[in-house]
Amino acid sequence: MDVTNDPLTNELFPQALIAITLQGATDLAGFRQAARRLLAQQMPPGQVSWFSADTPAQDLFAHADGGVSIDAPAVNVPPEFLALCESVILHSDPNRFGLLYRLLWRLLKEPALRHDPLDADRVQAQRMAQAVQRDKHKMKAFVRFRTVQDEAFKAYPDGGPLHVAWFEPEHHIVEAVAPFFARRFTQMRWAILTPERSVEWNGAQLHLGPGAQREQAPPPDAGEQLWLTYYQHIFNPARLKLKMMQKEMPRRYWKNLPEAQFISSLAAQAPERRMSMISQAPSMPRRRIPVSSVLPAGTSAADSSQISPLTLPELNKAAQHCRECPIGQHATQAVCGEGRIGARVMVVGEQPGDQEDLRGRPFVGPAGQLFDRALIDLGWVRDDLFITNAVKHFKYEPRGRRRIHKTPSQQEAAACLHWLESEISLVRPAAVIALGATAAASLLGRHVPVMAERGQWVTRADGLRVLITLHPAALLRTDEHHQPAAYEAWLNDLRQVSAFMDPPII
Ligand code: URA
Repeated sequence: MDVTNDPLTNELFPQALIAITLQGATDLAGFRQAARRLLAQQMPPGQVSWFSADTPAQDLFAHADGGVSIDAPAVNVPPEFLALCESVILHSDPNRFGLLYRLLWRLLKEPALRHDPLDADRVQAQRMAQAVQRDKHKMKAFVRFRTVQDEAFKAYPDGGPLHVAWFEPEHHIVEAVAPFFARRFTQMRWAILTPERSVEWNGAQLHLGPGAQREQAPPPDAGEQLWLTYYQHIFNPARLKLKMMQKEMPRRYWKNLPEAQFISSLAAQAPERRMSMISQAPSMPRRRIPVSSVLPAGTSAADSSQISPLTLPELNKAAQHCRECPIGQHATQAVCGEGRIGARVMVVGEQPGDQEDLRGRPFVGPAGQLFDRALIDLGWVRDDLFITNAVKHFKYEPRGRRRIHKTPSQQEAAACLHWLESEISLVRPAAVIALGATAAASLLGRHVPVMAERGQWVTRADGLRVLITLHPAALLRTDEHHQPAAYEAWLNDLRQVSAFMDPPII
């Protein structure tokens, strides 16, 4: 029998039986470490078996490896591959690690693979990443909290009751999605229970715990009754497209959605209610931009938050139809971010201005010109950044023939947040620059006094580092006298980000 060295322990194993056991189902760090080591030893993928916490049986030669610290050279890979690994590793398929290592191996041995999007391994990994993205999106959309007056509430009612939800994800996404809930429900104490993991937010910190059982989640509460009444009230029979609805809200989620109990009866009444709507007098459409055919059939503009964009162009298309707040109605177009997936640094402004609205690109007006000047002074290249805004539509007040910028409200910025967060999860920047208060508040989920916190880094619950600084428009408003010093101070803030402009490594 052929024998070969286990690259992690130097023990001898029969040929084709190198077994790597990772510490957890989503142990990306362990995978990277093992992959580097295996590559350094020129270990072909066919000779490696991967195991993790979610793999039922381990073979005879398996050993724990996630915590073993062994030096191996870092390997340069395209940034997109790293982003792909981060998603695929959350998939429930036990073969995911093997697939990723095979892809990594092939990327290094077969340069043409980078230009072959139809390669079977690449297609499979893409599909898995898409499934994970979809599952994350469903969790964000379908978690329903119920209120519990727990012991902590009884002892300290000011902290508010605990909100508990039960959810059954398909993949290992709980830890990855938890920071989204921490940002969205920062002021609330909440817990999400799932069969594999539970996560709790105490108002300051996230705690991950073991899985739970459905019975541990609380029964319906009064708040839920209100939501059910509201749901029945807003149900629009003219918009009912059952197939589309089941695609966006698959039946497997219904059992945990209180409103699902009404779907069948509301659907049955829909034809009759639709006829009565048709017989009523028409009302004037208020939308300036026609909704074109790019949304999936049967999806309405108000449903745009239900679409899980998987690529930046898809996100851009879907955002064109967003009417989750009134701004979109009056703007020429939604202006989404510009740059590439894997850009190490993302820059977030407030909202497109007049010129951005007309040209469909962020930061091309006067504030953008000042930003471009700063890029030259900093020695940065615009193409290396991903540049976007917290709010995707231009909010303005018509004054004669001019359109005067108006600051978006908190509600408008909140309605737009999922577009920004989707950009972040697609681009996966290492650092983000928040230009001004709207950007900082959207990114950090709290009011940010920019003058007090400028030049400071804040690390979000998901680990993303955010540098707070002024918006270039604020510098343009500074009086001429103080402008040079204000500009220098701004450059000094921005300069702190230069360290993040390194090439990615695995
Ligand atoms: N101001 C912003 O915040 N964003 C732009 O894209 C332009 C001006």
